Amino acid sequence: MELDYRFPAMSDLKARARRRVPRYIWEYLDSAEGNEGARARAEAALDAVELMPDILRGPVEADLGTTLLGRRYAAPFGIAPVGMSGAFWPDAEAILARTARAAEIPFCLSTVAATTPEEIAPHLGTQGWFQLYPSGDDAIRRDMLARAKEAGFHTLVLTVDVPLLSWRAREKRVRLKNPMALTPAILLQSALRPAWALGQLKRPALRPRIFDKYADPSAAGTEKHVGLALRVIPDWAYLETLRAEWEGPLVIKGVLDPGHVERLVAAGADAIWVSNHGGRQFEAAPAPLSALPAIREAAGPNLPILCDGSVRSGTDILRLIAHGADFVMLARAFHYGLGAAGAAGAAHVVRLLSEGLKLDMSQLGISTPGAVRGRLTAPLRQGRPFTPGQ
Ligand SMILES: Cc1cc2nc3c(=O)[nH]c(=O)nc-3n(C[C@H](O)[C@H](O)[C@H](O)COP(=O)(O)O)c2cc1C
Repeated sequence: MELDYRFPAMSDLKARARRRVPRYIWEYLDSAEGNEGARARAEAALDAVELMPDILRGPVEADLGTTLLGRRYAAPFGIAPVGMSGAFWPDAEAILARTARAAEIPFCLSTVAATTPEEIAPHLGTQGWFQLYPSGDDAIRRDMLARAKEAGFHTLVLTVDVPLLSWRAREKRVRLKNPMALTPAILLQSALRPAWALGQLKRPALRPRIFDKYADPSAAGTEKHVGLALRVIPDWAYLETLRAEWEGPLVIKGVLDPGHVERLVAAGADAIWVSNHGGRQFEAAPAPLSALPAIREAAGPNLPILCDGSVRSGTDILRLIAHGADFVMLARAFHYGLGAAGAAGAAHVVRLLSEGLKLDMSQLGISTPGAVRGRLTAPLRQGRPFTPGQ
């Protein structure tokens, strides 16, 4: 495949994407909070993990298929929610939904996507998860959940690590505002990226369209878009209410403290998503990988655990699974693919990850991703097998 040679690694997709989207959009996707330490530590923690290869195993048939929350996926990874994904690349949400359907992996639509659950449904098949930024208005919340369910989204993800919008310096430096102000600089940066700009001109105006039904978008005021105006900071009581309203699987996204696990499970969480929001919320947050073992220990062997953060390869996916994750999600990586080469780029991300997983699994002599838990070098060197939580 030609793309294998143009973009042999995620870093190649990233470099190309950077040259194809306007600078202010790039800063939105790529930045993190504070001095970006949480993001840097997530990467460093991944890089530091060694896995012990096996030898003389003969042929090993790698099966990437993974069951999560009652569904079978073709690989142990999926597409994490990105607000205003469609700003990064024209029609991003629909392209990613089709990518997920073709690859038989999950696609999680953000509440604040640039499209609606109804518009995405025809592209998605049965791969849809819906991520909720909670609305404080009971009727609107119930209606949003009903719309997601009706459109075929079967798994609900409640994001709990965004009490307030964070302060990202790189966004401020390029004067990215909410809602966006069309300054001369923004217009110039857009014009300098013709493929992106022409694609966006054909699309409806960029805003979180799910809220159009509840308020006149043009009347939402200049300080806050309507989604923010409707939003509430969730608490434990909110989780209980939500649990009572949503019949399908419920995933809690943004957990890092093992001390929260027991209460989340008691409140009806079906899975925990270990995440520091790609380092975008809190500079001092622990690296997801570092948080995983204690969370697995608190959760026991059977509670599904998802994880994300700075994943760039099949090797990174195995590193997280080795520390107790069952499933790994990626946000920026899929957008690097989109920015570099549109739909073909997003599909290429799936290929890089899947082929990388298969090659690594042959090195490790394992036929299922979960078997990597026995191949962490540190416990092996101490002469004892690794069990999650150690
Ligand atoms: C531009 C951008 C927007 C995001 N928007 C959302 C969102 O709307 N909801 C959410 O739960 N997480 C959101 N996230 C967080 C991702 O779902 C994910 O947790 C994180 O980015 C994972 O790290 P990665 O981008 O390095 O893969 C966003 C991330 C980025 C980069």
